[in-house]
Amino acid sequence: MTKPRILIIDDDEEIRTQMKWAVAAEYQVAMAGNRKEAVERFREHRPQVVLLDLGLPPNPNDTTEGMATLAALLTLDRSAKIIIISGQSDRENAVRAIGAGAYDFLSKPLDVEQLRQLLQRCVFVSELEREYRQLQDEERPGMFEGILGSNEKMEEVFKTVGQVAKATAPVLILGESGTGKEMIANAIHRRSPFKNKPFVAINCNAIPENLIESELFGYEKGSFTGANTQKIGLIETAAGGTLFLDEIGDLPPPVQVKMLRFLQEKRIQRVGGRQEIEVDVRVLAATHVDLTDAIKDGRFREDLYFRLAVVVCKLPPLRERGDDIILLAQDFLKRFGKQNGRENLSFDPQALKAIARHPWPGNVRELQNRIQRSVIMADGRRITCEDLEIPSIADLADKGSPMAAGTAVDLSLAGGLKEAREALERELVNQALERTDGNISAAAKELGVSRPTFYELMNKLGITKD
Ligand SMILES: Nc1ncnc2c1ncn2[C@@H]1O[C@H](COP(=O)(O)OP(=O)(O)OP(=O)(O)O)[C@@H](O)[C@H]1O
Ligand SMILES: [Mg+2]
Repeated sequence: MTKPRILIIDDDEEIRTQMKWAVAAEYQVAMAGNRKEAVERFREHRPQVVLLDLGLPPNPNDTTEGMATLAALLTLDRSAKIIIISGQSDRENAVRAIGAGAYDFLSKPLDVEQLRQLLQRCVFVSELEREYRQLQDEERPGMFEGILGSNEKMEEVFKTVGQVAKATAPVLILGESGTGKEMIANAIHRRSPFKNKPFVAINCNAIPENLIESELFGYEKGSFTGANTQKIGLIETAAGGTLFLDEIGDLPPPVQVKMLRFLQEKRIQRVGGRQEIEVDVRVLAATHVDLTDAIKDGRFREDLYFRLAVVVCKLPPLRERGDDIILLAQDFLKRFGKQNGRENLSFDPQALKAIARHPWPGNVRELQNRIQRSVIMADGRRITCEDLEIPSIADLADKGSPMAAGTAVDLSLAGGLKEAREALERELVNQALERTDGNISAAAKELGVSRPTFYELMNKLGITKD
């Protein structure tokens, strides 16, 4: 258990130190002597409880600075628990402070036992409130298991997840890179009857081909050089729970055969083993590539595809989610603003328009990355297109991009949404390549997409490295 954090604000250093000694064993204590320091410490230290003396410099003899400090802290966090430390004679002011949002007050000279009890109560209440807010957050409309979405296509996805979660059939989750496939896999597990059993994820494209089989199925001691001990594979580790096979399209053909047998028979054989082991596991798979192409080219087995695709859950790309784009953008701004002590940041109206129109090739992940970075980098109180490093509508007009013209409806009339999007994608990919001197990894990172996705984009748009 970490100690709860408190902040002591008093201009008298001696009093501050005494209070600190009284509580330092049970609390992490930060201290401040005036309003400016108080605000700074509050931001850094994120205290659950604040002890505030109302007589602060430059007006230690009245309560103006103290009341201003109270107001400033409550603006930063309206659920802050602030205890007023008042002199014997000014009960009236303490009562006024409570009217302004303080939690309680104590009179000087302080009774240490009373102080301890009050602090305990404050921490208890603040923890309760935090838990309550978290619950509310998860349950609020437009949020499903932490996944944001109000658009009807997303509602459809949530409905599917709710329906399949109770079953044990495999689910194939489809969607472009960054659309939230892993989040959906998690949601299916959490809504399932085996939610307290393991959820094991494996990214088939992140593991070297020659290791995938033994990672998944395990091996027996001595089954190959270097197999000095027996190893339990991920499938067995997931027993009773869920196995999530990410980027299933990259599963090598020999392992596809073994996987098919496992799905049909619910049994596995470790590499080098003779024994058949029964394993009961719910299998979820995901891919951002079109498996039908892979099947045509003979890179993916059709029979395995049908086994995995008993239920298909298709995630729409971000650009097709309408108002969800703004909903997500505002939510990320709030979240990263809080994390970085920049709750007052907002989007410039032009930036909001550009966000709504941007094609987001890296989908939600790209949106999230760009907002996270701009919250840290933004100079002013408004996040602009430059902070986000996306073209503004005006930029696009200059370059004659059809994306700049009117609304989406106008666009589809004037030459087609698809062409418009490709034009913008081409521009973004080219820009990223230019800025990174043709370094694919760096350019992909800039757009917030994986390397393979970036290659796919280049292919689709007919862009070469030079
Ligand atoms: N609807 C959403 N609401 C909130 N956050 C989301 C949403 N969708 C995606 N995210 C966030 O975006 C990021 C990417 O999501 P996730 O990893 O699930 O996507 P993915 O489709 O698996 O991507 P990839 O194909 O690149 O593996 C994560 O950080 C996730 O938290
Ligand atoms: Mg993923």
